[in-house]
Amino acid sequence: MFFRNNDFNELQKVENASNNIQVSGGNVYIETFGCQMNFSDTEILLRILAENNFFETSDLSKANIILLNTCSVRKHAEEKIYSRLHSFKKLKKKNPNIVIGILGCMAERMKSKLFDDFEFLDLITGPDEYRKLPDLIKNVRKGKKGVATKLSKKETYDDIIPLRKKGISAWISIMRGCDKFCSFCIVPFTRGRERSRSYNSIIKEAKCLSDEGVKEITLLGQNVNSYKYAGNDFADLLLAVADAVGKVRIRFTTSHPYDLSIKLLEAIASRENICNYIHLPVQSGSNRILRLMNRFYTIEQYKEIIKSAREIIPSVGISTDIIAGFPSETEEDHKLTLKLLEEVQFDSAFTFIYSPREGTKAYKLTDDVPAEVKKRRLGEIINLQRKISLNIHKKLIGEEKEILIESFSKKSKEYLLGRTDCNKTVIVPKGNLNIGDFAFVKINKVNSATLFGTVI
Ligand code: SAH
Ligand code: SF4
Ligand code: F3S
Repeated sequence: MFFRNNDFNELQKVENASNNIQVSGGNVYIETFGCQMNFSDTEILLRILAENNFFETSDLSKANIILLNTCSVRKHAEEKIYSRLHSFKKLKKKNPNIVIGILGCMAERMKSKLFDDFEFLDLITGPDEYRKLPDLIKNVRKGKKGVATKLSKKETYDDIIPLRKKGISAWISIMRGCDKFCSFCIVPFTRGRERSRSYNSIIKEAKCLSDEGVKEITLLGQNVNSYKYAGNDFADLLLAVADAVGKVRIRFTTSHPYDLSIKLLEAIASRENICNYIHLPVQSGSNRILRLMNRFYTIEQYKEIIKSAREIIPSVGISTDIIAGFPSETEEDHKLTLKLLEEVQFDSAFTFIYSPREGTKAYKLTDDVPAEVKKRRLGEIINLQRKISLNIHKKLIGEEKEILIESFSKKSKEYLLGRTDCNKTVIVPKGNLNIGDFAFVKINKVNSATLFGTVI
């Protein structure tokens, strides 16, 4: 779900790219890694660049500016970017006029230290400094490398309309940063303090998207539940957006359990077009580990929230995130996580092996769970969740669901992929359907990840 595929062979073609030195304007090739916030940021910075005559190209061979919008959440995420950067070294040698820049969370975390490892890099720009990108590029072309990694307490890019690719789904970033400081997490350091974007500009943007024919809008933030603007909270915003866009489906991510209110659950239940789906990361089933993680809730409180969610929104789909092998996690703690999965019966779970991030509070704890134990625990969590998801899906056989068709099925052009409002993927024969259509389908086959249906 997180990474965009790129054709690495394209790299060879860049040797033919323009050798002319120009200061202003150019063709920008950008790869984005990490979470939806980063993908949303790419749309924002592409607008900033376009207004300065820098236009995106998906063809690496036509690019004279190459940017990577990066993620630091786990070591593996950074390793991917390191290997991508190594592949650009040869390219820069052959064509020194190409501008190569690192943006996003890794730029923010590493700052100018990245120049030590990659002397061919030209610019390093953190998530709150994208307005400077055009000038930074111009300076590079005049021979001056650039670093801009100041975090802001105010920047929300409120006035910038993201340069989106045409499609049926769109993201709207409603806030930036995070103040939660979960002890394992680098995000508060790479994204800075929490700040909310203005209420009216979000509603206006949603309305424009709906007028343009978008069928699904996802409101984005690291912790959307703590949205606050001029006396309005997230539930107020969600209702206002839902009411401004007609039948357009509204989703949101991510919710922190500590801030999820009954008012928000009631808001979700009160509107047809707010999807009955909540992603509510729990991280661990052990209260001792949750305390060490700085998560501010107990498992008992978490289960209460789930109970309320299911009472208020009976058909709600719930997914979660889990980290295996946090420092000092015992077999007992791990079993509590498995027990929680059994008890809650999540629709799905995103699971990760703990990865120490320098600068976080947990980094000071000894990373004492051996790698093979972490891996085995992760495997047990994944296997159990697969069984649970399959059981939940089996109960849907014979049911009728409304889906929004999002794309062709990955395996065949004869089939389309749609999603229920509870976020379940359904594959249906193409028939007369088109991407962007809503359709009622009957579920007749399932596996742990996907439902298969026919149009009624
Ligand atoms: N703001 C969101 C997303 C944070 S990153 C949230 O709070 O849910 C997405 C997930 O990555 C987290 O929920 C967590 O499960 C995982 N994660 C974050 N830091 C991690 C680390 N150091 N090691 C392993 N997983 C991590
Ligand atoms: Fe990271 Fe926690 Fe903030 Fe999510 S809520 S971004 S896990 S610090
Ligand atoms: Fe990664 Fe930054 Fe998102 S660390 S998960 S790209 S906020």
